Amino acid sequence: MKTMQTIAIIGASGNMGAAISKSLAKGNYRLLLCANELNKVQAVAEEIKSSHPAATVEALDCSVEASWEADIIIAAVPFAAEREVAAKIKEVANQKIVISIANPLNDTYNGLVTAPDTSAAEELQKLLPNAKVIKAFNTTFAADFATPVIDGKQADAFIAGNDAEALQTVSEVVSTAGFSPIVAGDLAVSGTLERMQLLLIQLNMKYDYNWLAGWKILHQ
Ligand SMILES: NC(=O)c1ccc[n+]([C@@H]2O[C@H](COP(=O)([O-])OP(=O)(O)OC[C@H]3O[C@@H](n4cnc5c(N)ncnc54)[C@H](OP(=O)(O)O)[C@@H]3O)[C@@H](O)[C@H]2O)c1
Repeated sequence: MKTMQTIAIIGASGNMGAAISKSLAKGNYRLLLCANELNKVQAVAEEIKSSHPAATVEALDCSVEASWEADIIIAAVPFAAEREVAAKIKEVANQKIVISIANPLNDTYNGLVTAPDTSAAEELQKLLPNAKVIKAFNTTFAADFATPVIDGKQADAFIAGNDAEALQTVSEVVSTAGFSPIVAGDLAVSGTLERMQLLLIQLNMKYDYNWLAGWKILHQ
């Protein structure tokens, strides 16, 4: 059996952080949940313990300590908070996998704040030059985690990054969460993935599409 990996989820009290944490509780992971307010992540940890009594989960109020202990760090925070988070974890994230889930939306959610030639993930990589930044979970809505099989089809979850081993590790994390992992390319593909989710968000906001929606490549 593989050794248990430790995953720090920064922003585990948020919509995505809590959804990811709950979905990974069924895997062979030690989960360290952290956010600014300890009581909020404690509530998520308690919920996980009651639904998955065998899960290894702890709530921490310090993202540096959680990241120091972690093999994989998930930055489940708004794009605007990534600079602050990166500054805190920079020293302890060296050579570790850091998952960027952010969609860098503007205030009205009808565009991205990043320049056309970059992405939230690439900006995070610049802030954490010695970490292995991987884009994942940005094309899945928080609501999808409870129902990753939509209309009988397992939603795809796209992954991008520059390190083959890290992509494999994150593919396993994505599978554990219940999605079908698709490696879409190197980290520069992140801009495409972030724009894909902007499209889905726009469909919902403008045309009342459906928040329980995801991507699926159909094939034989
Ligand atoms: N919601 C979705 O369906 C969805 C889908 C794909 C990707 N995303 C991406 O996921 C990320 C989180 O979205 P969300 O909807 O989960 O947002 P959210 O519900 O507002 O949660 C944000 C989380 O980040 C924490 N946080 C905020 N600023 C922080 C800081 N400076 N340092 C540490 N923690 C901080 C918050 O903690 P406090 O409450 O204690 O401040 C909270 O736990 C965003 O980048 C978003 O683009 C969201």
